[in-house]
Amino acid sequence: MRFDHFDFLAPFYDRVIHFDRLETTLQMSALPADGLLLDAGGGTGRVAALLRPYVGSIILADFSLRMLSQARSKGLTSVLAPTEHLPFPDQTFTRVLMVDALHHVIHQAQTVHELWRVLAPGGRLVIEEPDIRTTPVKWIALAEKLALMRSHFLKPEEIAAILPPQASVRIEAQDYTVWVIAEKPVP
Ligand SMILES: C[S@@+](CC[C@H](N)C(=O)[O-])C[C@H]1O[C@@H](n2cnc3c(N)ncnc32)[C@H](O)[C@@H]1O
Repeated sequence: MRFDHFDFLAPFYDRVIHFDRLETTLQMSALPADGLLLDAGGGTGRVAALLRPYVGSIILADFSLRMLSQARSKGLTSVLAPTEHLPFPDQTFTRVLMVDALHHVIHQAQTVHELWRVLAPGGRLVIEEPDIRTTPVKWIALAEKLALMRSHFLKPEEIAAILPPQASVRIEAQDYTVWVIAEKPVP
């Protein structure tokens, strides 16, 4: 059986890992907005719970049962699913958000394609990641390697390059965090 770091961390996660970027995340995600938001790799729902007042509805997807049970205890609608194979029809969500999770995903290109697939025309995909171009994040990457976390940090340009040519993509960075923001055109 595979050891899952996040199953282990789930009961303490919210107490140890603080999220202090709500305002910036709202701005990057163009929230408030109507419709449905997917929080992919949403974990305990520490971010989704804060976003609730700013969007019609939220669905959280993650493959760690224990992280999801924390999210469910916050009353969040949560789905046990790998981000590589999301159980949603094409073009379901007006916002798709992935916070601090892409570097933990094994099949990153497949995940980015899935996030794009479920995004509705006129919608926005936001991938928020620690900025691997900065020295502190390089140290975090090393620490995660030593902890055998199998993380793999991509530079924002590498994430952007996975997206299809019709995506209108921009990259924003602040301190040690970077956002890859992609808009899907209305046909
Ligand atoms: C560092 S946590 C971040 C959780 C949440 N986004 C947050 O910011 O609080 C990374 C999450 O990604 C999830 N994850 C990693 N790879 C995944 C995959 N392939 N499919 C679904 N979830 C995945 C982990 O289970 C974990 O909950």
